[in-house]
Amino acid sequence: MEKISVGLLGFGTVGTGVVHLLTNEQEKLQQQTGLSVQISKILVKNLEKTRKFDQYEQLLTLDPSEIIDNPEIDIVIEVMGGIEEARRYIHSSLKNKKHVITANKDLMALYGNELLQAAADHGCDLYYEASVGGGIPILRSLTEGLAADRITKMIGIVNGTTNYILSKMSHQSVSYEEVLQEAQALGFAEADPTSDVEGLDAARKMVILSHLAYSIPVTLEDVNVEGITRVAEEDIQYSKKLGFAIKLVGTAEVEDGEIDIRVGPTLLPLNHPLASVDNENNAIYVYGKSVGETMFYGPGAGELPTAIAIVSDLISVVKNLKHGSNGHHLFLPNQKKQCKSADSIESQYFLRLHVKDQPGALSKITGLFNEQEISLLKIIQEPLFKEKLAEVAIITHTTKQLQFEQIYQLLNDLDSVIEVKSYYRVEGMK
Ligand SMILES: NC(=O)c1ccc[n+]([C@@H]2O[C@H](COP(=O)([O-])OP(=O)(O)OC[C@H]3O[C@@H](n4cnc5c(N)ncnc54)[C@H](OP(=O)(O)O)[C@@H]3O)[C@@H](O)[C@H]2O)c1
Repeated sequence: MEKISVGLLGFGTVGTGVVHLLTNEQEKLQQQTGLSVQISKILVKNLEKTRKFDQYEQLLTLDPSEIIDNPEIDIVIEVMGGIEEARRYIHSSLKNKKHVITANKDLMALYGNELLQAAADHGCDLYYEASVGGGIPILRSLTEGLAADRITKMIGIVNGTTNYILSKMSHQSVSYEEVLQEAQALGFAEADPTSDVEGLDAARKMVILSHLAYSIPVTLEDVNVEGITRVAEEDIQYSKKLGFAIKLVGTAEVEDGEIDIRVGPTLLPLNHPLASVDNENNAIYVYGKSVGETMFYGPGAGELPTAIAIVSDLISVVKNLKHGSNGHHLFLPNQKKQCKSADSIESQYFLRLHVKDQPGALSKITGLFNEQEISLLKIIQEPLFKEKLAEVAIITHTTKQLQFEQIYQLLNDLDSVIEVKSYYRVEGMK
């Protein structure tokens, strides 16, 4: 039987999962492709590390050229992470006519188009299913299953760490700091969690999804990003009382050819399917003009879920090799980029305010909303006896972003308002 030779750049969490599947699922791979897939070399940083699969010890190397310049290797799987080195190694592999599979969302969000162009120039495949949603086949769903539809909006819970933190804060009434420490101890959050908790990881994934769903070449600079560090327990408790859950969601919406792409803590109605996506799970809710609403749900990371996405990409590459169709499955954004301006962006909003506990305070607030022609969906007021003030939580109806920014300013200036403590967008209402 003909053999396909694979080189791995990286043997960490995901690399180990890939090796596991290539070792234990050989029969399935042969059934799918009619070929046998063998691992030829594995690039690592530290040869002394103990590995789960010690039978591959003789394949380990510290020299990337043993993979990227090796004429015996057909396919390179990049699971080392980082930007510049990975970018260089992928370029060299493509130049050497090797097909590439990567899980690297940081790299694909920043340099995806450049790398896809290089792959096209060299007639090679470049697949990256694992870069968004781990084991959820969302990229394939956008480019194949929903290829005939016009996608109008995507709402994604695409970062497992922040979803874990917000779920725990909601179900166990604990503070952000406490849950973060617990998540770090359990390995759900990195020692430096900045990229996750500041929303950057989710922003990168929304960029990749937007390229595929809309073919619009958005960059990270186009994403309005806010993380979860200022979400207070009180925000979560008031959201619940009003019938909502707070999640870190990415939204990417296109209307009249203009895109609005953002990541931030967002309220979702408790009866919305995304509201019950808890812990480290991911889900992407897709609105298609013809299909209506669909949701893709599953484990967003982890050794085997991520490896499944990579090995499925590997099967695609091998099938393309058999059919001589490599280099024809690349999706480069080809539409003009026009971003929505603040005066055309509309949303519902949640606000939490501290107000003076005195007669007429609430009516002054509702009066201000009336004057500004912003109608309210829900409002609750509760006394904070210890602080001798009251807390008010509001959900507005849909309003223009500019109008909301104005009322936010006016509320802060109102003498009965002590402070607007927080505000977030609300998504997923019919
Ligand atoms: N973990 C997940 O669940 C997940 C999910 C989706 C996507 N991803 C993406 O998958 C990629 C890999 O993630 P991971 O969690 O598997 O990372 P990881 O556990 O840190 O593993 C990285 C591997 O690459 C090797 N490596 C790193 N830099 C290297 C260098 N300069 N030269 C040679 N070898 C190098 C390391 O070698 P040593 O073993 O010798 O240290 C290690 O084997 C990243 O792009 C990540 O964003 C991960």
